[in-house]
Amino acid sequence: MGAHGSPAFERVDQDAERLHTPYDEWACSQGIDVMRGYFIEDVYTLPLKWWERMGGYGVFINLEGTGYVDDAYVCSIPPGESLKPQRHLFEELVYILEGRGATTVWQENGAKQTFEWQKGSLFAVPLNACYQHFNGQGDREARLLAVTNAPLVINLFHCEDFVMNNSYVFSDRFGGEEGYFGGRGKLYKDRVLEINFVSDVPGIEPIAWVERGKGNATIFFELAQSTMGAHVSQFPVGIYKKAHRHGPGAHVLILSGEGYTFMWPEGRERMRIQWKPGSMLVPPEGWFHQHFNPGGRPARYLALKMLSRKFKLAPGKIKSDVPLNQGGWQIEYEDEDPEIRLIFEEECARNGVEVKMPKR
Ligand SMILES: [Fe+2]
Repeated sequence: MGAHGSPAFERVDQDAERLHTPYDEWACSQGIDVMRGYFIEDVYTLPLKWWERMGGYGVFINLEGTGYVDDAYVCSIPPGESLKPQRHLFEELVYILEGRGATTVWQENGAKQTFEWQKGSLFAVPLNACYQHFNGQGDREARLLAVTNAPLVINLFHCEDFVMNNSYVFSDRFGGEEGYFGGRGKLYKDRVLEINFVSDVPGIEPIAWVERGKGNATIFFELAQSTMGAHVSQFPVGIYKKAHRHGPGAHVLILSGEGYTFMWPEGRERMRIQWKPGSMLVPPEGWFHQHFNPGGRPARYLALKMLSRKFKLAPGKIKSDVPLNQGGWQIEYEDEDPEIRLIFEEECARNGVEVKMPKR
């Protein structure tokens, strides 16, 4: 304190405010591109750059709807090579876009476990465990998509050394248990499967959940004791799901089918996103979003997101199938803008697809 009780300070002739977050600065320092916007047309064809820290080729994806709770990146492992071992204090979900290979996971000074994966496999890296990815094929790349909560963690601590070189072992999440990544799980009520490795996400059988739309089926994954989670939804040809809204950061990756999604903030104009396998979108926090399948095949997507049923960041029931007028997050078919149905009928007619929606 100064002589008269006021703080002593040195005057600095510049603004204190920084325009970028510590996460942005970290991502920029990685030497690869950052894709932005509301969606990615095709994660399979994104151009990648050499990523020294990983030892492969990569690109960051920071979509508008993430609200800085999570991010995504695509990384490819060159033929016959491995990425560099990693360890970090943010959670990470990994989906294999292309190829075959294996991942080794271990805790510091603990035994190593290796499991094999292929195109369509999903797993979570246990928090701050050491891991290394290997490409199992010598003649082609392996390509993975990861969704992480690095923005949340890096912005909170803004200390790369603490986040990337932290020796704490979360043995409550992964204690080196035999068969941890063996692909066996526990199926709870309400379609929740607790499992650390799903070998074939495109092939898994989801469970009927008609409250979210006619013909809809979904299965939720709880992986590696994470606060992040995932789910698969499938809906038939000639059908669209009910609109709903929720928090930020759900990365919706289209696995099969061709259609479109509407996203809109309440009372405002709809944004339309056309999709096909490999497209990815993130609905911004509080925006309604609705998925439509006027294509020739069942539509299926994988959502990778900051939401676990076991380890919640806010208390209370998840109300994604409860109507708005009952305090929920969903617009029932009979309450939606009639134009939504008309546009869908036109799309189906154009594709020669029969509309299978329930009569009003
Ligand atoms: Fe959603």
